Amino acid sequence: MSQVIWMNGELVPYEDAKVHVLTHALHYGTSVFEGVRAYETPDGGTGVFRHADHIDRLFRSAALYHMDVPFSKDEIRAATFETITRNGLKSCYIRPLVYRGAGPMGLYPLDCPVDVFIAVWEWGSYLGDEGKKNGIRAAVVSWRKIGQDALIPIAKANGQYLNSVLAKIESEKAGYEEGILLDQRGFVCEGTGENLFIVKDGKIATPGFNSSILGGINRLSAITIAQDLGYEVVERDVARGELYIADEIFMTGTAAELTPIREVDDLPVGQGEAGPVTREIQAAFEDALHGRSERYADWLDRVPAPAPAS
Ligand SMILES: Cc1ncc(COP(=O)(O)O)c(C=O)c1O
Repeated sequence: MSQVIWMNGELVPYEDAKVHVLTHALHYGTSVFEGVRAYETPDGGTGVFRHADHIDRLFRSAALYHMDVPFSKDEIRAATFETITRNGLKSCYIRPLVYRGAGPMGLYPLDCPVDVFIAVWEWGSYLGDEGKKNGIRAAVVSWRKIGQDALIPIAKANGQYLNSVLAKIESEKAGYEEGILLDQRGFVCEGTGENLFIVKDGKIATPGFNSSILGGINRLSAITIAQDLGYEVVERDVARGELYIADEIFMTGTAAELTPIREVDDLPVGQGEAGPVTREIQAAFEDALHGRSERYADWLDRVPAPAPAS
């Protein structure tokens, strides 16, 4: 875990990084966040993957819930660099969170302050190294993804994650490594924290915004890589039954990176292992994440080397 956490402009020791019990976000879920990863690069430095895109989404999510982030995007970027450096990490997961702090109780949040913290920690493969290599077992859960008429699926807002939490508990208790949610219409939406792709006859399809997805940054990266490799990628409604006849399925997300699915609802996907298209995209994606790709080098935002001690 972070030894120091950046809170509202200051680096605070882990044990002092506290919030008040009357923090509005604690009561009503009024906060937004990002999950970002930084990777050690072959030259011994560190690069934050698609940093600007994550910061943009954080500010967009905040705006959608009427929060003005009390720092500029540049300040958040610099604070992230500082937090990584001060924690002495080369590769890590980064969690910036913008939240309504302690203030007047009640649902109206606009008189509560907007607070920000950034925590970093070392975090291995979210769905396991074995899962990333050979694929995971997933199941469609009974919970549907939140509808566009109830909340804002394109916002990465904490309260909305109760939906993912219920789905995760259901799939985990049933013995699966990940749950897949359908949208309100019954089409495939996404995993509890990942976007989903199917491969059929060499063509790739992924649900679009009609299906209440979160617009994943790794989803966009996978689309770009797949297209650069010559694959056709279509954003469209994906029927549940297509999961059962797909040749390959994979998921993308900051935590899970690119993880193949080898079984859905106890049925093997294709040959019941990570397929060749998935592996090809995954290999290029891993190169991009770890700074081994010239083509996607600008996806990594380099953490400046710390100034030498004087
Ligand atoms: C619900 C949900 N869908 C998709 C994603 C994937 O998004 P990204 O690739 O930006 O991490 C995430 C993770 O942030 C998520 O929580």
